[in-house]
Amino acid sequence: MTAVGIDALEIWTGKLKLDLAETFAPAKDDAPEKYTKGLGLEASSFPDTYEDIVTMGANAAKRLMDRKGLSPDDIGRIDVATESAFDNSKPVSTYIAGCLEDVYDGDFHHANKGERKFACVAGTQSIDDAYNWIKAGRNRGRAALVIATDTALYARGDPGEATQGAGAVAMLVTENPSLVELSTDQGYGSADETDFLKPNQQFPSVDGKRSVQVYLARMREALEDYESVAGRTHPDDFEYIPFHTPFPGMVRKAALLGFRHMTRGTEIEDGLADEIGRQPREDEYEDWDAYEDAIRDYMDALKETETYDEWYGQAIDPTLSLSRRVGNWYTGSVHVARMSALKTAAETGRALAGDRLLVGSYGSGAQAEIHSETVADGWREEVDALNIDEQLARRYDLSFEEYGRVHDAHNHEKERELEEFTVPSGEFVFTGWGRMNERK
Ligand code: HMG
Repeated sequence: MTAVGIDALEIWTGKLKLDLAETFAPAKDDAPEKYTKGLGLEASSFPDTYEDIVTMGANAAKRLMDRKGLSPDDIGRIDVATESAFDNSKPVSTYIAGCLEDVYDGDFHHANKGERKFACVAGTQSIDDAYNWIKAGRNRGRAALVIATDTALYARGDPGEATQGAGAVAMLVTENPSLVELSTDQGYGSADETDFLKPNQQFPSVDGKRSVQVYLARMREALEDYESVAGRTHPDDFEYIPFHTPFPGMVRKAALLGFRHMTRGTEIEDGLADEIGRQPREDEYEDWDAYEDAIRDYMDALKETETYDEWYGQAIDPTLSLSRRVGNWYTGSVHVARMSALKTAAETGRALAGDRLLVGSYGSGAQAEIHSETVADGWREEVDALNIDEQLARRYDLSFEEYGRVHDAHNHEKERELEEFTVPSGEFVFTGWGRMNERK
């Protein structure tokens, strides 16, 4: 059976940076550690005033197409995953295709275009759609271009303000991919939830604390559903476990829950029994609350063990290296997490081809998806081609007062001031609502 998966990937960060410890914390009169240790974030990326979801997505896609030597004829569908769309009719993919057609010979007239929405999980859903399209044999030898692009902005003063971010990830889904092969093993946890939503509004209404619990509940259900298809999971089965990362502190909680689940009844639980006891079993408790309390106590003890710490350092921490510098990118976030892990592996000289990843995607509203992937032979070359470190180093470091002006510039209810903090060079830029985007 021909393998299908992600052949290549490019990341485009918003060109501005808000430092949480140096700039945000003092302005909020908070301890910097709340952000750096509690949430696990150092900085957020923001779009300059000439950037938006279209320009960031088109710039990532252009870099991807150039690097892979592709022309529009090689692409049979363009799916954009976003929860920051500004048009309720025309999909963002048509705007991005328009940008790309301005700079390539040829057009995307015979490519299927769409926009996928389910909060942050839509990026992974678009990859799934592309996979199914290719597996069904409807692609006529062509690749799918999947772009996850968002400006994750919260209202000023919202507790979510510290977790903002902006950027795009462009991915090419093909047969015989160079980066990762997708497996058919997949599990879902999905329920109608109202902790994070944007009904006819740009900035979300959020019950932040509840959103954390909903994330964990759906992720646990998705893992159970995954196991019903793929069989029991064990921590040693997966080299890395990239999760959707609204902030690294969220992943710390999800990872602990996952490790506890995967180690029940295993030699790892046996090995820890003398130190922290055995995992509570539901039938040992009179009611559900007492059982949950016992699980919580067990997890508190588990996270202090060397066994857990070592696994976390190997399988989880490497997935967070980029997100702690850029914040939440909504639909792109889990794809940034995967690349952070592969990048760390490349930097430390690890051989990964053939190893497996377990990917935990999540979108508010709410749905988690867990699926597995196998790292492909060409992964190293793909990682080496990334220029994300240079992009991050070049970001303009905003003062708190400048941050306020940038937030206003991206607020759809305010007049958009096109005051620029950086200078665009050979990229698509926003030029005003109308024609919207051109290349400078
Ligand atoms: P908050 O209430 O300002 O923060 O907002 P807090 O008081 O809960 O503190 C955060 C952590 O820092 C806590 O750690 C504190 O103990 C710690 P925890 O107990 O959780 O482990 N802390 C400190 N640590 C060290 N030194 C200190 C210190 N002070 C505090 N001095 C909240 C937190 C997550 C609620 C907020 O950021 C928020 O509302 N965020 C937006 C919603 C969100 O990201 N939810 C995540 C799950 S939902 C999701 O991922 C979907 C999403 O991406 C959207 C989509 O799918 O479209 C958001």
